[in-house]
Amino acid sequence: MTGTRPWESPEITGWRRLRRNAVDRREGSVPLDGDWRFQLLPAPDAPLGEEWSSLVVPGPWTMQGTSDLPHYTNAQMPWPEIPPLSPAANPTGVHERDFDVPADWAGRRIVLQVGAAESVLIAEVNGRRIGIGKDSHLASEFDVTDTVRAGGRNTLRLTVVKWSDASHIEDQDQWWHGGITRSVLLYATDPLHLADVHITAGHDGSLRVDCQVRGPLPRGWYITGDLDGTALAQDTEFDRVNREDDRVSEFLGEARLSARVPDVRPWSAETPFLYGLTVRLHRADGSVADTSRHRIGFRTVRIRGRDLLVNGERVFIRGVNRHDFDPLTGRTVTEAQMRADLETMKRFGFNAVRAAHYPNDPALLDLADELGLYLVDEANIESHDHAHEIADDPRYLPAFLDRVSGMVLRDKNHPSVIIWSLGNESDYGANHDAAYGWVRRHDPTRPIQYEGAAKTDWFSTTVASDIVCPMYASMEEIVAHATSGKQTKPLILCEYSHAMGNSNGTLSDHWEAIESTPGLQGGFVWEFWDHGILQRLSDGRPAGPGTTDGFTAGVAAPGYRWAYGGDFGDTPNDGVYCADGLVFPDRTPKPAMYEHREIAAPLRLTYDAGLLRVDNRQHFRDLSWLAGEWELSAEAAGTRTAPAELPHVPPGGHADIPFPRELLDGLPTDHGAVWLTLRLSTAVDEPWAPAGTEVCTPQVLVPEGRPARGTGATPVRRIPTSGPGTSAGVVLDAEGRLVSPLLTAPPVLSLWRAPTDNDLLGGVAEHWHRLGLDDLVREHVSTDRHEDRVTVRCVYRTAGGVVEHQQAVSRLPDGGLLIEETAVLPEGVTDVARVGTVFETVGGPERMEWFGQGPWETYPDRRAGGPVGHHRARITELFTPYLRPQESGGRSGVHALSLLSDTGGGLSVRLDAPRQVSVTHHRAADLAAAAHHDELVPRRGCVVHIDAMHRGLGTASCGPDTLPRYRSGPGTYHWSWLLRAV
Ligand code: GAL
Ligand code: MG
Repeated sequence: MTGTRPWESPEITGWRRLRRNAVDRREGSVPLDGDWRFQLLPAPDAPLGEEWSSLVVPGPWTMQGTSDLPHYTNAQMPWPEIPPLSPAANPTGVHERDFDVPADWAGRRIVLQVGAAESVLIAEVNGRRIGIGKDSHLASEFDVTDTVRAGGRNTLRLTVVKWSDASHIEDQDQWWHGGITRSVLLYATDPLHLADVHITAGHDGSLRVDCQVRGPLPRGWYITGDLDGTALAQDTEFDRVNREDDRVSEFLGEARLSARVPDVRPWSAETPFLYGLTVRLHRADGSVADTSRHRIGFRTVRIRGRDLLVNGERVFIRGVNRHDFDPLTGRTVTEAQMRADLETMKRFGFNAVRAAHYPNDPALLDLADELGLYLVDEANIESHDHAHEIADDPRYLPAFLDRVSGMVLRDKNHPSVIIWSLGNESDYGANHDAAYGWVRRHDPTRPIQYEGAAKTDWFSTTVASDIVCPMYASMEEIVAHATSGKQTKPLILCEYSHAMGNSNGTLSDHWEAIESTPGLQGGFVWEFWDHGILQRLSDGRPAGPGTTDGFTAGVAAPGYRWAYGGDFGDTPNDGVYCADGLVFPDRTPKPAMYEHREIAAPLRLTYDAGLLRVDNRQHFRDLSWLAGEWELSAEAAGTRTAPAELPHVPPGGHADIPFPRELLDGLPTDHGAVWLTLRLSTAVDEPWAPAGTEVCTPQVLVPEGRPARGTGATPVRRIPTSGPGTSAGVVLDAEGRLVSPLLTAPPVLSLWRAPTDNDLLGGVAEHWHRLGLDDLVREHVSTDRHEDRVTVRCVYRTAGGVVEHQQAVSRLPDGGLLIEETAVLPEGVTDVARVGTVFETVGGPERMEWFGQGPWETYPDRRAGGPVGHHRARITELFTPYLRPQESGGRSGVHALSLLSDTGGGLSVRLDAPRQVSVTHHRAADLAAAAHHDELVPRRGCVVHIDAMHRGLGTASCGPDTLPRYRSGPGTYHWSWLLRAV
């Protein structure tokens, strides 16, 4: 075995690797992380050189200044060899270090644990090969008792081969790296030790603990357990039956402990109550030979009909897919980073994570237990490029079983894990059925899912998936399934709402459908991270671990950029497709996060016929953990606040509450509509946020400002033209364009936006280009002067026909300009990006104050997270620095805005109705021409768009485009606006 080439043998999943188990050995271990000696060889059988450099372990070498750089591909393999072959040029890292074994470990069993290495690990101690491991996301453990010298100096060499037969089943959509990515440590146990502990704890307080000790136990040894100090009962019946069955010999090889905990506090994502469980193995004299400690939660997962139940409740799964990612270290992440990830998710309303697409570091599971997140634990199997060949290939069968069983054996005691997943995008074959069978027998307490198995027939009850877990299915499709009368399983999307660039349009439409359709239970947004690696521009290398000046607030600092596929000269590659997350590479939330936060709000506020109602949308909690504040906003009357008293509402319940009338006192009589917001924050410290952290901002519109019967519709207002003026005051240039000292580029029609990733990959950007909307040529037709108005008519010739545009400009007595516009789009001009005005201001304004939705970026199909109110921001903050520049910075429902310089002065715009607006320092064409954010050169003035219509964002880079109601084309559009100097 030691002489074989294990990187070319799928049958070899490991050699002398210990059985995986759920006994945590981190406590009392000797860490071996730090600086190691390192050599990078061109191939696994290349001779070792003389020269050693140094490398930080854990950490892939691809991020630490070696010649082997990160490489990004989605489905395609980075090289042409077919399974199980790998290329001859195969970077191989030799990691070496010396270590001391404590003298008092003599006589103990000593184990080396390598947290994760990709993709083949060959371990040697003191020159002797001690084992081989595969699976880049599970630990390998080797017994080194007979190889190390206790009390002496030893040498450990870990050789990691980058490409192998295993690469073909680790073809996930992410950067390829090479190296050791999780911690290395050494631990010691008694030769007789707890080999495994399997805990089953239901929300009814039932507890069963199955313990295993392998090896002949001397007479009189025994196992005890306690739950937070209360002893567990020995299951003597279990011992008796086992002995009679001859399943164990005379000695105690297995034991079962049990308890029923009265008044148990069940674990759920909302109420992550944990208990301390300790299991001890005793020698005959009662002394303790081994201890295993666990933090456990009492919870039950069950499928009833087409509902997935947690503790008997049909919970909504508000999930997100998460990869291990860091812009400096690649795939190596610390516990603090994982905590920050999960806290961010909780703060933005997520209650579930899919470990896409492999088992995470054990610390992440501990954190999910502690913070309260449901986990779909996924095995490290994705054979995307060669899925069909591998799914039935018996040579890969051992790897499927090894990876799936290894995950289950390791993670089975975590309450957070509610579903096992057999992997991702690997077609469906006999290897999956075998793995499903193994899990079903080993852990009957959790459902199993696998998208590839469920995909061909959502109704099938025989395939290897207990859940229908499609990716990117349209709303119509999932609703049709749930209303077909034939649904057999829960439907939870394993991936939906692709977060690439400026995206996540129609998320709230999705949730309306999910919440109102029995049989639909939620899904997992794709994905959490934008995988931009911080790249130094001077030499094109990854900035690497320890870089401290690389980024702020989502943006790479000068001298750096966020690299994506191809930026390291990696070919073939899939470009910017790896930048498809809800957070920037430094975990700064994108605006879509606020959308999700509001959709997932624990409390819903509604207003009808003078009555306010709150719904508690949680499954297990009342509202007492929330503190509220009322905020009333009216355009003319500013913002007023008052403390809010939240009523007692049980989970799933609702209550009517009095309107905070005191906020209306003294309002001017003609104040118009008002918006009432309930700002909710944590009243007490939560495990994931300190007291005072904002949770959501539900808002209702009170038409015409009085709690009385009303339609709820936003009133469209006529802009007053206030008295006679004279057209002589309106100045036009020779082409009939408005000239104003406030503007450097006059207001003209705009039908285009810098394509978003969705626009590009979904094809609509190409449609705009074919029509010529990205380069409209204006032809001046006529100018009429009539009393106080100058009317300018012009046309734009497009491939879809002639677009007519008319602007009527009037000068008001106060010097303001009223611009009334009409655009007529012919039949051939369909599905446009926008219909509106664009102009550019003189330099100076650096801040915007507006009344409308905000403060976050919002778009017509992604505006649930932006309450209407008085907002202010710097112009630079309005722009969202998506990795590949694109349409950005929009604000929906804007009634009025002012652009102000820091020294005072500027201009204001008032709109006839709430409109989509954007104000940035970037022209659409500049954005479209740039490939990276650092290539943008901001204009001095502001580029202002006012849109009568703006197309929704959708998610067409992977999945459905926006809905018809957020798209528009032929027809007549009217809008008007009032421009003033301030
Ligand atoms: C899915 C896949 C993910 C990712 C996503 C697109 O098909 O499971 O890994 O590739 O599409 O970003
Ligand atoms: Mg894939």
